[in-house]
Amino acid sequence: TLPWDLAGRHVVVTSGGTREEIDPVRFLGNRSSGKQGHAIAAVAAARGARVTLVTSSDLPVPAAVEAVHIESALELREETLRAAAHADVVVKAAAVADFRPADVSESKLKKGSESEPAEIRLQRNPDILADLVAARSAGDVPAPCVLVGFAAETGDSSGSVLEHGRAKLSRKGCDLLVVNEVGRDTTFGQDDNGGWILGADGAETTLDRASKDLLADRLLDAVTALSLRRTRR
Ligand code: C5P
Repeated sequence: TLPWDLAGRHVVVTSGGTREEIDPVRFLGNRSSGKQGHAIAAVAAARGARVTLVTSSDLPVPAAVEAVHIESALELREETLRAAAHADVVVKAAAVADFRPADVSESKLKKGSESEPAEIRLQRNPDILADLVAARSAGDVPAPCVLVGFAAETGDSSGSVLEHGRAKLSRKGCDLLVVNEVGRDTTFGQDDNGGWILGADGAETTLDRASKDLLADRLLDAVTALSLRRTRR
């Protein structure tokens, strides 16, 4: 049985990959399924939290979770900041597109037409996690609110997965960062996941490959430990 340790807490979770509109029928997307974020929302609710799930995923909404459906990064930003205004925890499991098409066509782009698109110009999306950190500093998100980011990393010549994760944690300024190693056939869309939970305080927890539900439970343990140190009930 799960602990009832999130009773009275409001947990906001984002999940799924954003869809950036090109024209009325097409979008730019990514391989995020929403499974990990949905698992976190489900486990948080099962541990007693009031949960708002801001998602682009078509997966069923977990029991006792309030879902807000969005498509684009801009919609995700608006709904996440709105929900975060009264949150104790925000977990950003969504895979946000870094770029969106600079111009959205109001009618379907057609082959062979005069306006046949040779290229799609891209525009940078805001970094929602960085905006949450700034909103907390500005007092628009409660100061004790625990902010959790996710990082999908691959190792390369400039460093290992873990090194990239540590750098990202300090760059983003969030409290906890879940670092997953990703490739075409790992993590995205799968039922299991593994990696590390890195804390801004230097704490580091290894997550052996396990179900996304179990990983959600481990993450919420790390969140409550941090949250208890910050707030008194
Ligand atoms: O920079 P990167 O995309 O790897 O960072 C991942 C983390 O930042 C995730 O928690 C993701 O939800 C968040 N993010 C965001 N806004 C963006 C890009 C990423 O909130 N535009």
